[in-house]
Amino acid sequence: MKIRPVEVDDLAPVFHLGEKLFTANTVPNLYRTWDEFEVVGLYQSDAEYCFVAEIGEHLVGFVLGTVISKTKSAWKYGHLIWMGVDPAFARQGVADRLARHFLETMLEEGVRMLIVDTEADNLPALKFFRKMGFTNPQEHIYMTMNLSGRQQTALEKKGNGQAKK
Ligand SMILES: CC(C)(COP(=O)(O)OP(=O)(O)OC[C@H]1O[C@@H](n2cnc3c(N)ncnc32)[C@H](O)[C@@H]1OP(=O)(O)O)[C@@H](O)C(=O)NCCC(=O)NCCS
Repeated sequence: MKIRPVEVDDLAPVFHLGEKLFTANTVPNLYRTWDEFEVVGLYQSDAEYCFVAEIGEHLVGFVLGTVISKTKSAWKYGHLIWMGVDPAFARQGVADRLARHFLETMLEEGVRMLIVDTEADNLPALKFFRKMGFTNPQEHIYMTMNLSGRQQTALEKKGNGQAKK
């Protein structure tokens, strides 16, 4: 198994693997939608913190992350944003290798704290992250507001406004 930095040719395979993992059955981070902009955006902004795992010719997993440094804080935070492994290669230590590589990179970056988040019922991910050494789970609630009805009204208002000009 080889772990290497993500390259532009990996974007489509990573996106399609994520589509299988994050939209079909499990949705670990509902408030962050898995889409091609997420993958391309992280590649553009944080390619040095994004890695893929290969077995032979197969791209079997990925980890996409970022580093957050607040200007007034001495602490640098590493955020493991997305991680996924092809189910055909599950329980073979792919995620383990990816996460360790990510961790090493974070240490080299001077990161003091790693953050990861996932749905409370994503037991495989929770077990995995605990095994990796993540502790102190904090519960948080996120809420949503459906704006689809209001959007139409806003568009109509905008349309009316323009018509008056
Ligand atoms: C979570 C995930 C990344 C694990 O990938 P993986 O390559 O199968 O994990 P590993 O083989 O490295 O497993 C390492 C350890 O994690 C735990 N673990 C992994 N998958 C598990 C599962 N399905 N059930 C219980 N424990 C699991 C085990 O402790 C395992 O060690 P063991 O096999 O010696 O018991 C993978 O299941 C996945 O892609 N899930 C869908 C996407 C997701 O939820 N991503 C995380 C949030 S972004």
